[in-house]
Amino acid sequence: MFATKNPMYNTGNTGVNTGNNMNQGSLPFTVGGGGNLAAAPVGNQPNNNNIPVVGAPGLRIGPNPTVKPNDTQVSNSNTQQPQLQSQQHQGSSHALDDPNVYHWICQVTYGPQKEQALLELGRKREQFDDLAIVLWSSFGVMTSLLNEIISVYPMLQPQMLSNQLSNRVCNALVLLQCVASHPETKHLFLQAHIPLFLFPFLNTTSRQRTFEYLRLTSLGVIGALVKSDSQDVITFLLRTDIVPLCLRIMESSSELSKTVAIFILQKILLDDVGLQYICATLERFYAVTNVLKDMVDHLTVNAPPGRLLKHIIRCYLRLSDDLEARRLLRVVLPASLRDNTFAEVLSDDVGSKRCLAQLLLTLNEENPQ
Ligand code: TRP
Repeated sequence: MFATKNPMYNTGNTGVNTGNNMNQGSLPFTVGGGGNLAAAPVGNQPNNNNIPVVGAPGLRIGPNPTVKPNDTQVSNSNTQQPQLQSQQHQGSSHALDDPNVYHWICQVTYGPQKEQALLELGRKREQFDDLAIVLWSSFGVMTSLLNEIISVYPMLQPQMLSNQLSNRVCNALVLLQCVASHPETKHLFLQAHIPLFLFPFLNTTSRQRTFEYLRLTSLGVIGALVKSDSQDVITFLLRTDIVPLCLRIMESSSELSKTVAIFILQKILLDDVGLQYICATLERFYAVTNVLKDMVDHLTVNAPPGRLLKHIIRCYLRLSDDLEARRLLRVVLPASLRDNTFAEVLSDDVGSKRCLAQLLLTLNEENPQ
């Protein structure tokens, strides 16, 4: 039925796609946290599996340049016109003009190729401006995605999540991220409280790779929501346990997950209500600053600090906007941020250097008014 080999079933004994070009098989997110993050390391999985790599925050869901629009053409798609194909490259055509998209939307809803449909639609997420709208409004698609998510809950405890299943649910999460990113669907997504379905994944602590990817991809969805600085996103999140969950991930997950988690924390802090929320109790303030301090201490021994340091500095700087927090920061700010430990690391990052200088200036002011 398919014109090309179906990579999804080209599995080795791990049960996930192997042996394919990582860039084709995986669903890399382009890291774009406020435009100041470098590209996510795609394909850093130890065994080159096809697990979608979420980049970090910001989560501009990047196009996958190596995926050709028609690399998995459905046999009935030869009616497609060349003109349409060139439009697809520009990301400006309508998703449903592409018979492949229509096919995979039907497959996601009714099967039997749900698993491949999740992958194929994820690959197309940036080819079309309106894929999020199509996903949201097509009968049964959101239900099917939620069903994918809920069906792995029983595998979280005790830990029975196979690579294949983790991969599959991550592909569903990638589609949720697409919906969470689009300005026309993100508020509907929020109103339907769909982010709550991700919390069981964020709440896992296993260091197994399958769980790491699940957390990372789930954080990617939240990251996509906070990226646009909408008040209603922050209000929604502050009613959940996202802050303690991010703090735990910042303490103990992979570097990439830590980066997305601190990006989310930073976005919450940048919101006035978010800052008030964190500074409302000493417990919260110390929970945040203890984790930030641990991260800094960890950076000192593990060079290079990479993107984390930028976010750490900006979180401290934002905390210093609260007068009570500013007073306490004078005591708890790590010495290594005061003594030029990171001068060299920051030498080519003018923005972060300025933020750090501003932070130190603010803290050293005699009269904090
Ligand atoms: N329910 C807790 C609270 O409101 C949630 C929480 C735990 C928390 N640790 C935190 C909130 C750290 C902010 C920061 O405090």
